[in-house]
This record gives sequence, C-alpha cells and structure tokens, in this order.
Amino acid sequence: MRLAQPRDAARMAALDADASPYPWSASQYRPACTGLASNPERGLMLERGPELLGFIVFAQVLDEASIHNIVVAVSARRQGFGAQLLEAVLAELARNQVRCCQLEVRRSNTAARRLYAALGFSVDGTRRNYYPLPGGREDAILMSRDI
Ligand SMILES: CC(C)(COP(=O)(O)OP(=O)(O)OC[C@H]1O[C@@H](n2cnc3c(N)ncnc32)[C@H](O)[C@@H]1OP(=O)(O)O)[C@@H](O)C(=O)NCCC(=O)NCCS
Repeated sequence: MRLAQPRDAARMAALDADASPYPWSASQYRPACTGLASNPERGLMLERGPELLGFIVFAQVLDEASIHNIVVAVSARRQGFGAQLLEAVLAELARNQVRCCQLEVRRSNTAARRLYAALGFSVDGTRRNYYPLPGGREDAILMSRDI
C-alpha cells in the first residue's frame, strides 16, 4: 500500500471505469494524487506487483475526515481488500488525532454500505435525491464513526 502519486490519476480512473457504475474521471482523481499541503485530499493505492487491486480517496481537515471514494477491482472483490484500505485510512486518522470520519453513499450501494457498517460506521441521516441516476435521482445515506 502506498500514497497515490500524480501519475496514478489515469490508472485510478481506468480501474473505476471497469469497477463502478458511476466512475470518476482522471481529473477528479488528480487532486488526491498531488500530495500538496494546500490540498487535503489523499489517495492510498493497494497493489500486488504491477496489478492495481484498489484504492481509497480521503481527506482530513483539522480533526475531521471524510472518505470520498473506495474502489476495488471486480476480480479482487470479497477478499478483504476494501476493508484493508479502509482500516489503513482509519489507522492513519487515529495517528493524526482525528476525532470523527464521515462519508456519503448511494442508498442502492449495498456492498459499500455493508463494508462501512462492518468497519464501525453508523447511519446519521439521508440527503434526499442527492445523486443523479439515469432517469431519476437517488438518496445519499450519511454515515460516520468516531476515531
Ligand atoms: C464496496 C467495495 C469497495 C467493497 O470492496 P471489497 O474488497 O469487495 O470488500 P471486502 O472484501 O473488504 O468486504 C468487507 C465486508 O464488506 C461487506 N461487503 C463487501 N462487498 C459486499 C457485497 N457485494 N455484498 C454484501 N456485503 C459486502 C461484507 O460485510 C464484507 O465482509 P465479508 O466478505 O466477510 O462478508 C467494492 O464492492 C467496490 O469497489 N464497489 C464499487 C465502487 C463503490 O461503489 N465504492 C463505494 C463508493 S461510496
């Protein structure tokens, strides 16, 4: 596992395009790959040799943090890699004396909601019709956990 570098944005977008129904573009991933102090977003990459298994994007501002995305390659799912990425971020946040971590997830995303619940996140509320869907909109479920 290692921090994302500028050259990783295109690989993250390519993995996401294969793995998610609503992928981010390379330009959306680029800020997490800069490592600039002025930008709080960071990416953690999980690799096995040359293969990218997955990654997570998160941000810390003072004593609060948020998970912005987590993606595991379709062929690598249900092997604990998503949990490994999330646990690595939670451990880093604990080292940084972060108090709380929050996130938003589509209501229909059962896999991600179960992953977050398994790692101690609980539901705080709902943002109605937050995400676009083909032909409609979908609620965001707001989740958080203390660190
Ligand atoms: C969500 C995602 C990252 C999970 O990655 P993963 O590596 O398969 O997850 P793990 O193997 O670490 O699973 C850990 C736990 O999460 C839950 N979980 C993960 N996938 C699940 C699924 N498809 N159905 C039900 N529970 C699931 C289970 O509790 C699982 O523990 P278990 O396997 O012992 O039952 C992956 O499905 C993914 O990349 N989805 C597309 C991108 C996405 O939607 N990201 C979230 C954006 S908010």
